[in-house]
Amino acid sequence: MLKIAVLGGDGTGPEVVAEGLKVLKVVAEKEGFPYETQDYDFSGKAYLARGGDPNIQNIPVITDEQVDEFRNYDTIYLGAVGDPDVAPGILEKSLLLNLRFKLDQYINLRPVKLYPGVATPLANKGPDDINFDVIRENTEDLYFGGGGFLRKDTPHEVATQEMIATRFGVDRCLRYAFEFCRKKNKKKMLTLVAKTNVLTYSHNLWWRAFNEMGDADYPDIKRDYNHIDACCMWFVKNPEFYDTVVVPNMFGDIITDLGAMIQGGMGVAAGGNINPEGTSMFEPIGGSAPKYTGKNVINPIAAIASLAMLLSVVGSQKGDAAIERAGEKVEKAIIATCPKMKSQSAGNMGFSTTGVGDLICEAL
Ligand code: IPM
Ligand code: MN
Repeated sequence: MLKIAVLGGDGTGPEVVAEGLKVLKVVAEKEGFPYETQDYDFSGKAYLARGGDPNIQNIPVITDEQVDEFRNYDTIYLGAVGDPDVAPGILEKSLLLNLRFKLDQYINLRPVKLYPGVATPLANKGPDDINFDVIRENTEDLYFGGGGFLRKDTPHEVATQEMIATRFGVDRCLRYAFEFCRKKNKKKMLTLVAKTNVLTYSHNLWWRAFNEMGDADYPDIKRDYNHIDACCMWFVKNPEFYDTVVVPNMFGDIITDLGAMIQGGMGVAAGGNINPEGTSMFEPIGGSAPKYTGKNVINPIAAIASLAMLLSVVGSQKGDAAIERAGEKVEKAIIATCPKMKSQSAGNMGFSTTGVGDLICEAL
């Protein structure tokens, strides 16, 4: 039994997740595996309804007990986080980052894959050129939340925001990336993206760990290194160069938005927050798109691609071939559907949100 906690979240999140669940129903029937979903409302609206302050967090967005409840599930399927009525940072930190950290989802897997029939802003590049994976460390770096103010609200104010890299955290991310790259068996090249010329402590640790692990255990994997700024240039100029990229959290956040754009935009980009030994969470990379909420115009492909990833990753983790196959099937249905769409941008698809969901179901 595949047990899924469903968090539609904010804005268009519930709409795109509904399409994913529609697809899940069809593919589960076809592949013959049982599953169970449970809805949870941890949206900004729910926080406000419970008496949450929109400006300064006064009550938990989610309690530790509720986070613990998710450990009883195989996985979490998340729509979007971010509500214009709640100050930036409250929901992002207390829900999204909180879940990533507490459930120790230390890998953020973000494939950059241009599907056939999807327009890319890169001239003369096609699906064969834009097809690589970014593995973003998901629990450390600038994201761990350390820092503070000194002399706040005075002309002499000081603000610090701390960056950490632990050898344990870096090693487990690198291990996942080397193994992923080996299993994929494409170019067998792993690119570390960092900034060793400026971040001479934390990224020096990454650099040493990368080379030590590579030398010791992965002589078959070619090691490559990009500074983050150069990487941004190469993503645009020569995306075909990449196979697997491993990157610390903050830079990973940034380059995966760039990656999302070259694969056709936020409407198609999917991601997985993975704890290989625990409960993982899958979500579209895009946000809650408040201006499109409730209009049945948002693109559900990214959410459906996240579902495909959920099935592949969790199926393999559970050793369940039917679930894994279902993941591949959903991805094939996406590939068959994209060329039928006029565009991947909200409101210009030639179909409604539910219409695109129907197309995927038919293609299954
Ligand atoms: C993402 C988002 C989040 C992040 C925000 C919403 C906290 O941008 O998933 O990439 O920075 O990780
Ligand atoms: Mn981001």
